[in-house]
Amino acid sequence: MRAQLKCIDCGTTYALDQVRYTCDCGGLLDVARDLEELRNVVSRETFDRRLGGRPLADVSGVWRFRELILPVPENEIVSRPEGNTPLYRSPRLSKWVGLDDLALKHEGENPTGSFKDRGMTVGVTQARQVGARAVACASTGNTSASLASYGAMAGLAVIIFVPEGKIAFGKLSQALAYGAKTLQVAGDFDVAMQLVQHVCRELDIYLLNSINPFRVEGQKAIILEMLQQREWQPPDWIVLPAGNLGNTSAFGKALYEAHQLGLITRIPRLAAVQAKGANPFYRSFIGHFQQRERVHAETIATAIKIGDPVSYSRAVRAIEWTNGVVTQVSDADIMSAKAQVDAAGIGCEPASASSVAGIKRLVGDGVIKPGESAVAILTGHLLKDPSATVDYHLNRLEGITPAYANAPVVVEPTVDAVREALN
Ligand code: F0G
Repeated sequence: MRAQLKCIDCGTTYALDQVRYTCDCGGLLDVARDLEELRNVVSRETFDRRLGGRPLADVSGVWRFRELILPVPENEIVSRPEGNTPLYRSPRLSKWVGLDDLALKHEGENPTGSFKDRGMTVGVTQARQVGARAVACASTGNTSASLASYGAMAGLAVIIFVPEGKIAFGKLSQALAYGAKTLQVAGDFDVAMQLVQHVCRELDIYLLNSINPFRVEGQKAIILEMLQQREWQPPDWIVLPAGNLGNTSAFGKALYEAHQLGLITRIPRLAAVQAKGANPFYRSFIGHFQQRERVHAETIATAIKIGDPVSYSRAVRAIEWTNGVVTQVSDADIMSAKAQVDAAGIGCEPASASSVAGIKRLVGDGVIKPGESAVAILTGHLLKDPSATVDYHLNRLEGITPAYANAPVVVEPTVDAVREALN
Protein backbone atom coordinates (compact mmCIF):
# COMPACT_ATOMS: atom_id res chain seq x y z
CA MET A 1 0.00 0.00 0.00
CA ARG A 2 1.53 3.31 -1.10
CA ALA A 3 2.04 6.04 1.47
CA GLN A 4 3.96 9.29 1.61
CA LEU A 5 4.66 12.21 3.90
CA LYS A 6 2.37 15.16 3.30
CA CYS A 7 2.39 18.66 4.79
CA ILE A 8 -0.87 19.43 6.58
CA ASP A 9 -0.55 23.12 5.66
CA CYS A 10 0.62 23.34 2.03
CA GLY A 11 0.16 19.74 0.84
CA THR A 12 3.76 19.23 -0.36
CA THR A 13 4.65 15.54 -0.37
CA TYR A 14 7.90 13.74 0.41
CA ALA A 15 9.00 10.11 0.17
CA LEU A 16 8.20 8.03 3.24
CA ASP A 17 11.86 7.20 3.87
CA GLN A 18 13.02 10.83 3.96
CA VAL A 19 14.22 11.78 7.41
CA ARG A 20 12.26 14.95 8.11
CA TYR A 21 9.71 16.02 10.69
CA THR A 22 8.38 19.22 9.15
CA CYS A 23 7.75 20.57 5.66
CA ASP A 24 10.01 23.16 4.04
CA CYS A 25 7.20 25.63 4.81
CA GLY A 26 7.41 24.73 8.50
CA GLY A 27 4.13 22.78 8.58
CA LEU A 28 3.71 19.43 10.35
CA LEU A 29 3.67 16.23 8.31
CA ASP A 30 1.15 13.41 8.03
CA VAL A 31 1.67 9.90 6.80
CA ALA A 32 -0.84 10.11 3.93
CA ARG A 33 -2.28 7.18 2.08
CA ASP A 34 -4.83 6.69 -0.66
CA LEU A 35 -7.99 6.05 1.34
CA GLU A 36 -9.99 5.29 -1.82
CA GLU A 37 -7.61 2.49 -2.66
CA LEU A 38 -7.54 1.27 0.97
CA ARG A 39 -11.31 1.11 1.06
CA ASN A 40 -11.16 -1.99 -1.13
CA VAL A 41 -8.46 -3.59 1.00
CA VAL A 42 -9.55 -3.27 4.62
CA SER A 43 -12.79 -3.81 6.45
CA ARG A 44 -13.94 -4.57 9.97
CA GLU A 45 -13.60 -8.25 9.06
CA THR A 46 -9.94 -7.83 8.01
CA PHE A 47 -9.09 -6.71 11.53
CA ASP A 48 -11.52 -8.97 13.39
CA ARG A 49 -10.09 -12.05 11.66
CA ARG A 50 -6.69 -11.32 13.17
CA LEU A 51 -7.98 -11.42 16.76
CA GLY A 52 -6.54 -14.50 18.41
CA GLY A 53 -4.00 -14.87 15.59
CA ARG A 54 -0.50 -16.16 16.35
CA PRO A 55 1.92 -13.95 14.33
CA LEU A 56 3.37 -11.03 16.31
CA ALA A 57 1.82 -8.60 13.86
CA ASP A 58 -1.63 -10.01 14.71
CA VAL A 59 -1.00 -10.20 18.45
CA SER A 60 0.11 -6.55 18.70
CA GLY A 61 -2.78 -4.15 19.22
CA VAL A 62 -1.00 -1.77 16.86
CA TRP A 63 0.18 -3.96 14.01
CA ARG A 64 -3.14 -5.77 13.82
CA PHE A 65 -4.24 -2.61 12.01
CA ARG A 66 -1.07 -2.53 9.88
CA GLU A 67 -2.62 -1.29 6.64
CA LEU A 68 -3.43 1.93 8.53
CA ILE A 69 -0.12 2.05 10.38
CA LEU A 70 3.00 1.55 8.24
CA PRO A 71 3.92 -0.52 5.19
CA VAL A 72 6.86 -2.56 6.46
CA PRO A 73 7.86 -6.24 6.22
CA GLU A 74 6.52 -8.04 9.26
CA ASN A 75 9.87 -9.47 10.29
CA GLU A 76 11.27 -5.94 10.64
CA ILE A 77 8.74 -4.80 13.22
CA VAL A 78 10.05 -3.87 16.69
CA SER A 79 7.22 -4.90 19.00
CA ARG A 80 6.89 -5.98 22.65
CA PRO A 81 3.95 -6.58 21.64
CA GLU A 82 1.88 -3.58 22.79
CA GLY A 83 -1.78 -2.70 22.99
CA ASN A 84 -4.67 -5.06 23.82
CA THR A 85 -5.48 -2.82 26.75
CA PRO A 86 -8.73 -3.31 28.67
CA LEU A 87 -11.91 -1.25 28.57
CA TYR A 88 -12.95 -1.04 32.21
CA ARG A 89 -16.37 -0.25 33.55
CA SER A 90 -17.03 0.90 37.10
CA PRO A 91 -20.46 1.71 38.56
CA ARG A 92 -18.68 3.77 41.20
CA LEU A 93 -16.96 5.97 38.62
CA SER A 94 -20.05 6.23 36.43
CA LYS A 95 -21.95 7.57 39.39
CA TRP A 96 -19.16 9.93 40.37
CA VAL A 97 -18.99 11.58 36.94
CA GLY A 98 -22.77 11.44 36.42
CA LEU A 99 -22.85 9.24 33.33
CA ASP A 100 -24.46 5.80 32.99
CA ASP A 101 -22.36 4.71 30.05
CA LEU A 102 -18.73 5.32 30.97
CA ALA A 103 -15.80 3.11 29.99
CA LEU A 104 -12.12 3.59 30.67
CA LYS A 105 -9.53 2.43 28.19
CA HIS A 106 -6.40 1.81 30.21
CA GLU A 107 -3.41 2.60 28.08
CA GLY A 108 -1.30 2.46 31.24
CA GLU A 109 -1.46 -1.32 30.82
CA ASN A 110 0.94 -1.24 27.90
CA PRO A 111 4.40 -2.87 28.25
CA THR A 112 6.17 0.20 29.72
CA GLY A 113 3.06 1.51 31.46
CA SER A 114 1.83 4.18 29.06
CA PHE A 115 0.22 4.72 25.66
CA LYS A 116 3.57 5.86 24.28
CA ASP A 117 4.42 2.24 23.43
CA ARG A 118 1.85 2.39 20.62
CA GLY A 119 3.69 5.22 18.94
CA MET A 120 7.13 3.92 19.80
CA THR A 121 6.73 0.50 18.17
CA VAL A 122 6.10 2.34 14.89
CA GLY A 123 8.64 5.13 15.44
CA VAL A 124 11.46 2.75 16.34
CA THR A 125 10.54 0.41 13.49
CA GLN A 126 10.76 3.36 11.10
CA ALA A 127 14.06 4.49 12.70
CA ARG A 128 15.53 1.14 11.69
CA GLN A 129 14.00 1.39 8.21
CA VAL A 130 15.84 4.65 7.57
CA GLY A 131 19.09 3.27 9.01
CA ALA A 132 19.22 5.40 12.16
CA ARG A 133 21.90 4.47 14.70
CA ALA A 134 20.80 6.80 17.47
CA VAL A 135 17.37 8.01 18.53
CA ALA A 136 16.32 10.78 20.90
CA CYS A 137 13.35 12.50 22.48
CA ALA A 138 12.50 15.20 24.99
CA SER A 139 10.07 13.96 27.57
CA THR A 140 8.05 14.55 30.69
CA GLY A 141 8.89 10.90 31.41
CA ASN A 142 6.69 8.41 29.63
CA THR A 143 7.98 8.96 26.10
CA SER A 144 11.52 8.53 27.36
CA ALA A 145 10.67 5.33 29.27
CA SER A 146 9.07 3.89 26.16
CA LEU A 147 11.83 4.96 23.78
CA ALA A 148 14.47 3.61 26.16
CA SER A 149 12.79 0.20 26.08
CA TYR A 150 12.04 -0.06 22.37
CA GLY A 151 15.41 1.46 21.45
CA ALA A 152 17.18 -1.14 23.59
CA MET A 153 15.21 -3.92 21.91
CA ALA A 154 16.19 -2.58 18.49
CA GLY A 155 19.85 -2.21 19.43
CA LEU A 156 19.87 1.56 18.96
CA ALA A 157 21.64 4.19 21.05
CA VAL A 158 18.98 6.13 22.97
CA ILE A 159 19.45 9.69 24.23
CA ILE A 160 16.71 11.30 26.28
CA PHE A 161 16.25 14.90 27.37
CA VAL A 162 14.21 15.40 30.52
CA PRO A 163 13.50 18.56 32.52
CA GLU A 164 15.71 18.29 35.59
CA GLY A 165 13.87 17.32 38.76
CA LYS A 166 10.47 17.50 37.06
CA ILE A 167 9.67 13.96 36.00
CA ALA A 168 8.10 11.26 38.14
CA PHE A 169 10.45 8.70 39.67
CA GLY A 170 8.89 5.62 38.10
CA LYS A 171 9.61 7.07 34.67
CA LEU A 172 13.15 8.21 35.42
CA SER A 173 13.95 4.78 36.86
CA GLN A 174 12.77 3.11 33.65
CA ALA A 175 14.97 5.27 31.44
CA LEU A 176 18.04 4.56 33.56
CA ALA A 177 17.23 0.86 33.82
CA TYR A 178 16.73 0.38 30.08
CA GLY A 179 20.11 1.99 29.54
CA ALA A 180 19.25 5.29 27.87
CA LYS A 181 21.77 8.12 27.99
CA THR A 182 19.79 10.45 30.22
CA LEU A 183 20.36 14.19 29.97
CA GLN A 184 18.68 16.25 32.66
CA VAL A 185 18.16 19.65 31.10
CA ALA A 186 18.23 22.75 33.27
CA GLY A 187 14.85 24.02 32.14
CA ASP A 188 11.28 22.86 31.64
CA PHE A 189 9.90 20.43 29.02
CA ASP A 190 9.42 23.18 26.45
CA VAL A 191 13.10 24.10 26.71
CA ALA A 192 14.12 20.44 26.40
CA MET A 193 11.84 20.04 23.36
CA GLN A 194 13.50 22.95 21.55
CA LEU A 195 16.92 21.62 22.46
CA VAL A 196 16.34 18.07 21.23
CA GLN A 197 15.09 19.30 17.85
CA HIS A 198 18.25 21.33 17.46
CA VAL A 199 20.50 18.49 18.58
CA CYS A 200 18.86 15.96 16.27
CA ARG A 201 19.43 18.24 13.27
CA GLU A 202 23.04 19.00 14.17
CA LEU A 203 24.13 15.52 15.24
CA ASP A 204 22.13 13.39 12.81
CA ILE A 205 20.05 11.67 15.46
CA TYR A 206 16.55 10.36 14.70
CA LEU A 207 13.90 12.33 16.61
CA LEU A 208 11.11 10.35 18.24
CA ASN A 209 8.84 12.91 19.80
CA SER A 210 5.27 12.98 18.52
CA ILE A 211 6.24 15.70 16.03
CA ASN A 212 7.48 12.58 14.18
CA PRO A 213 4.48 11.52 12.07
CA PHE A 214 5.17 7.79 12.54
CA ARG A 215 4.53 8.10 16.27
CA VAL A 216 1.11 9.53 15.49
CA GLU A 217 0.34 6.59 13.18
CA GLY A 218 0.95 4.10 16.00
CA GLN A 219 -1.14 6.00 18.51
CA LYS A 220 -4.11 5.88 16.14
CA ALA A 221 -4.39 2.24 17.17
CA ILE A 222 -5.75 3.29 20.59
CA ILE A 223 -8.88 4.39 18.77
CA LEU A 224 -8.99 1.52 16.28
CA GLU A 225 -8.66 -1.05 19.05
CA MET A 226 -11.28 0.67 21.20
CA LEU A 227 -13.70 0.72 18.26
CA GLN A 228 -13.01 -2.95 17.61
CA GLN A 229 -13.66 -3.76 21.30
CA ARG A 230 -17.01 -2.00 20.95
CA GLU A 231 -17.80 -3.98 17.78
CA TRP A 232 -17.20 -0.81 15.74
CA GLN A 233 -19.96 1.12 17.52
CA PRO A 234 -18.39 4.44 18.52
CA PRO A 235 -19.27 6.11 21.82
CA ASP A 236 -20.67 9.64 21.74
CA TRP A 237 -17.50 11.04 23.33
CA ILE A 238 -13.84 10.16 23.61
CA VAL A 239 -12.10 12.09 26.37
CA LEU A 240 -8.33 12.33 26.78
CA PRO A 241 -5.63 14.31 28.58
CA ALA A 242 -3.83 16.80 26.35
CA GLY A 243 -0.22 17.93 26.73
CA ASN A 244 2.07 17.96 23.71
CA LEU A 245 -1.06 17.14 21.63
CA GLY A 246 0.32 14.06 19.85
CA ASN A 247 -2.50 11.88 21.07
CA THR A 248 -5.20 14.42 20.26
CA SER A 249 -3.74 14.56 16.73
CA ALA A 250 -3.63 10.78 16.44
CA PHE A 251 -7.21 10.36 17.63
CA GLY A 252 -8.50 12.88 15.10
CA LYS A 253 -6.66 11.19 12.26
CA ALA A 254 -7.80 7.72 13.32
CA LEU A 255 -11.43 8.78 13.45
CA TYR A 256 -11.24 10.62 10.14
CA GLU A 257 -9.69 7.62 8.41
CA ALA A 258 -11.98 5.07 10.07
CA HIS A 259 -14.96 7.07 8.87
CA GLN A 260 -13.59 7.50 5.34
CA LEU A 261 -12.92 3.76 5.15
CA GLY A 262 -16.41 2.87 6.34
CA LEU A 263 -15.20 1.20 9.55
CA ILE A 264 -17.56 3.52 11.44
CA THR A 265 -20.63 5.34 10.22
CA ARG A 266 -20.42 8.38 12.49
CA ILE A 267 -17.59 10.29 14.14
CA PRO A 268 -17.62 10.57 17.94
CA ARG A 269 -16.69 13.88 19.51
CA LEU A 270 -13.26 14.38 21.07
CA ALA A 271 -12.87 16.20 24.36
CA ALA A 272 -9.28 17.17 25.14
CA VAL A 273 -8.63 17.99 28.80
CA GLN A 274 -5.83 20.20 30.06
CA ALA A 275 -4.59 21.07 33.53
CA LYS A 276 -5.50 24.66 34.42
CA GLY A 277 -1.86 25.55 34.95
CA ALA A 278 -0.80 24.08 31.59
CA ASN A 279 -3.64 25.13 29.33
CA PRO A 280 -2.37 26.70 26.08
CA PHE A 281 -4.66 24.55 23.93
CA TYR A 282 -7.69 25.39 26.05
CA ARG A 283 -6.90 29.10 25.72
CA SER A 284 -6.62 28.78 21.97
CA PHE A 285 -9.91 26.85 21.85
CA ILE A 286 -11.89 29.48 23.75
CA GLY A 287 -10.45 32.02 21.30
CA HIS A 288 -11.86 29.89 18.44
CA PHE A 289 -8.30 28.95 17.45
CA GLN A 290 -7.73 32.46 16.12
CA GLN A 291 -4.40 32.47 17.89
CA ARG A 292 -1.88 29.90 19.06
CA GLU A 293 -1.39 30.45 22.78
CA ARG A 294 1.68 29.59 24.83
CA VAL A 295 2.01 29.55 28.63
CA HIS A 296 4.56 28.82 31.33
CA ALA A 297 3.26 25.47 32.56
CA GLU A 298 2.75 24.43 36.17
CA THR A 299 0.73 21.42 37.37
CA ILE A 300 0.97 18.40 39.63
CA ALA A 301 0.30 16.27 36.55
CA THR A 302 3.93 16.45 35.42
CA ALA A 303 3.24 14.34 32.31
CA ILE A 304 1.22 17.20 30.81
CA LYS A 305 3.22 20.11 32.23
CA ILE A 306 3.70 21.59 28.76
CA GLY A 307 3.24 25.21 27.71
CA ASP A 308 4.06 25.13 23.98
CA PRO A 309 2.76 21.88 22.42
CA VAL A 310 4.49 20.88 19.18
CA SER A 311 1.52 19.15 17.54
CA TYR A 312 -0.72 22.21 17.89
CA SER A 313 -1.95 22.51 14.29
CA ARG A 314 -2.61 18.78 13.90
CA ALA A 315 -4.63 18.87 17.13
CA VAL A 316 -6.68 21.88 16.00
CA ARG A 317 -7.58 19.84 12.93
CA ALA A 318 -8.59 16.91 15.16
CA ILE A 319 -10.95 19.08 17.22
CA GLU A 320 -12.46 20.54 14.04
CA TRP A 321 -12.87 17.15 12.32
CA THR A 322 -14.69 15.72 15.32
CA ASN A 323 -16.71 18.75 16.39
CA GLY A 324 -14.69 18.40 19.56
CA VAL A 325 -14.14 20.53 22.63
CA VAL A 326 -11.25 21.43 24.91
CA THR A 327 -11.72 21.91 28.64
CA GLN A 328 -9.54 22.46 31.70
CA VAL A 329 -9.48 21.10 35.27
CA SER A 330 -7.65 22.17 38.42
CA ASP A 331 -4.96 20.11 40.12
CA ALA A 332 -7.39 19.47 42.98
CA ASP A 333 -9.96 18.14 40.47
CA ILE A 334 -7.29 15.92 38.91
CA MET A 335 -6.25 14.45 42.25
CA SER A 336 -9.87 13.85 43.32
CA ALA A 337 -10.52 12.04 40.04
CA LYS A 338 -7.34 10.05 40.46
CA ALA A 339 -8.36 9.03 43.99
CA GLN A 340 -11.69 7.82 42.57
CA VAL A 341 -10.08 5.89 39.70
CA ASP A 342 -7.59 4.39 42.16
CA ALA A 343 -10.21 3.45 44.75
CA ALA A 344 -12.27 1.77 42.01
CA GLY A 345 -9.37 -0.70 41.89
CA ILE A 346 -8.21 0.52 38.48
CA GLY A 347 -5.56 3.14 39.22
CA CYS A 348 -3.72 5.64 37.04
CA GLU A 349 -1.15 8.42 37.19
CA PRO A 350 -2.28 12.04 37.77
CA ALA A 351 -2.31 13.21 34.11
CA SER A 352 -4.53 10.27 33.15
CA ALA A 353 -7.11 11.20 35.75
CA SER A 354 -7.64 14.53 34.04
CA SER A 355 -9.78 12.70 31.47
CA VAL A 356 -12.14 11.53 34.23
CA ALA A 357 -12.06 14.95 35.90
CA GLY A 358 -12.79 16.44 32.48
CA ILE A 359 -15.85 14.24 31.96
CA LYS A 360 -17.21 15.24 35.36
CA ARG A 361 -16.69 18.87 34.46
CA LEU A 362 -18.27 18.55 30.98
CA VAL A 363 -21.27 16.71 32.40
CA GLY A 364 -21.59 19.46 35.03
CA ASP A 365 -21.37 22.11 32.30
CA GLY A 366 -24.10 20.35 30.29
CA VAL A 367 -21.75 19.72 27.34
CA ILE A 368 -21.88 15.94 27.77
CA LYS A 369 -25.51 14.92 28.34
CA PRO A 370 -26.30 12.31 31.04
CA GLY A 371 -27.72 9.90 28.44
CA GLU A 372 -24.59 9.99 26.26
CA SER A 373 -21.76 7.47 26.28
CA ALA A 374 -18.12 8.30 26.89
CA VAL A 375 -14.80 6.52 26.78
CA ALA A 376 -12.10 8.04 28.96
CA ILE A 377 -8.51 7.30 28.05
CA LEU A 378 -6.26 6.50 31.00
CA THR A 379 -2.83 7.21 29.61
CA GLY A 380 -0.41 6.05 32.31
CA HIS A 381 -0.07 3.47 35.09
CA LEU A 382 -0.60 4.19 38.80
CA LEU A 383 2.99 3.14 39.61
CA LYS A 384 4.52 5.75 37.32
CA ASP A 385 4.23 8.44 39.97
CA PRO A 386 4.12 6.92 43.47
CA SER A 387 5.09 10.21 45.15
CA ALA A 388 1.97 12.01 43.93
CA THR A 389 -0.22 9.22 45.31
CA VAL A 390 1.50 8.91 48.68
CA ASP A 391 1.74 12.69 49.17
CA TYR A 392 -1.98 12.97 48.42
CA HIS A 393 -3.00 10.37 50.99
CA LEU A 394 -0.62 11.84 53.58
CA ASN A 395 -2.00 15.34 52.94
CA ARG A 396 1.38 16.64 51.88
CA LEU A 397 0.33 18.37 48.64
CA GLU A 398 0.40 22.14 48.86
CA GLY A 399 -2.93 23.74 48.07
CA ILE A 400 -4.83 20.42 47.78
CA THR A 401 -7.11 19.15 50.52
CA PRO A 402 -7.36 15.40 49.94
CA ALA A 403 -11.11 14.76 49.94
CA TYR A 404 -10.60 10.99 49.59
CA ALA A 405 -7.46 10.48 51.67
CA ASN A 406 -6.63 6.96 52.85
CA ALA A 407 -3.79 7.62 55.26
CA PRO A 408 -1.83 4.70 56.71
CA VAL A 409 -2.04 4.08 60.45
CA VAL A 410 0.94 3.29 62.68
CA VAL A 411 0.25 0.49 65.21
CA GLU A 412 2.04 -1.20 68.07
CA PRO A 413 2.48 -4.97 67.41
CA THR A 414 -0.46 -6.03 69.61
CA VAL A 415 -3.95 -7.33 68.87
CA ASP A 416 -5.44 -4.58 71.04
CA ALA A 417 -3.72 -1.90 69.03
CA VAL A 418 -4.97 -3.44 65.80
CA ARG A 419 -8.51 -3.73 67.18
CA GLU A 420 -8.43 -0.06 68.07
CA ALA A 421 -7.07 0.90 64.65
CA LEU A 422 -9.86 -1.04 62.93
CA ASN A 423 -12.63 0.57 64.98
N1 F0G B 1 -0.87 11.40 29.73
C1 F0G B 1 0.36 10.95 30.01
C2 F0G B 1 0.51 9.94 31.10
C3 F0G B 1 1.49 11.42 29.28
O1 F0G B 1 2.68 10.95 29.57
C4 F0G B 1 1.28 12.39 28.29
C5 F0G B 1 2.39 12.94 27.53
C6 F0G B 1 -0.04 12.83 28.03
C7 F0G B 1 -1.07 12.31 28.78
C8 F0G B 1 -0.33 13.84 27.00
O2 F0G B 1 -0.25 13.32 25.72
O3 F0G B 1 1.48 14.82 24.79
O4 F0G B 1 0.11 13.38 23.32
O5 F0G B 1 -0.89 15.35 24.45
N2 F0G B 1 3.61 12.71 27.80
C9 F0G B 1 4.74 13.13 26.97
C10 F0G B 1 6.01 12.51 27.49
C11 F0G B 1 4.82 14.57 26.72
O6 F0G B 1 7.08 13.06 27.28
O7 F0G B 1 5.95 11.43 28.06
P1 F0G B 1 0.13 14.27 24.48
